[in-house]
Amino acid sequence: MKLCIYPGTFDPFTNGHLDVLARAAKLFGHVRVAIAIDSTKAPLFTPEQRVQLIQANLRGLPNVDVVSFDGLLVKFARKQKAHAIIRGLRALSDFEFEFNMALMNRHLEPKVETIFVMPNESYSYTSSSLVKQIAKLGGDVSKFVPPNVAKALREVYPSA
Ligand code: COA
Repeated sequence: MKLCIYPGTFDPFTNGHLDVLARAAKLFGHVRVAIAIDSTKAPLFTPEQRVQLIQANLRGLPNVDVVSFDGLLVKFARKQKAHAIIRGLRALSDFEFEFNMALMNRHLEPKVETIFVMPNESYSYTSSSLVKQIAKLGGDVSKFVPPNVAKALREVYPSA
């Protein structure tokens, strides 16, 4: 059974991430969402919270699980015996960063292929940082994130 890793910071998980995940789950026997602990992004949610926020959205995706990981992605992928890394490409602006990361990962571990999928175009402008900014300023994020994520954001920014 082919295993693919879907890595990211997921701070927080959005409907766009869910769309990519559902597409990946159709392509692979198993998909492991891998939450990067060593993020340069100073995440709002702890790795444990991010695992829980994603896990609650896996109904209908029996071949998906969620873990967190430390250190290099390719080392983690190799340890898991993953066949591929999957990443979402929302727009052309994602391309350069993703291209560099995929080539660097290939250099570090030639056996693990990176595969890109395009989420539905309605998510092309969704990003975790925009969602956090909107929530912080009291805007409605319910169209961009699953209900449990919207609730978690309201708990962090109750008075916004
Ligand atoms: N829908 C909505 N938003 C999406 C999306 C989608 N389908 N795909 C990406 N995004 C957004 C995210 O919301 C996020 O937005 P933000 O920057 O505003 O927070 C951004 O695009 C990318 O986030 P994410 O998909 O969570 O991934 P990432 O770029 O934060 O993850 C890692 C990067 C974790 C995969 C990478 O840093 C890594 O591999 N780290 C481990 C260390 C390592 O191996 N480093 C060497 C790499 S060569």
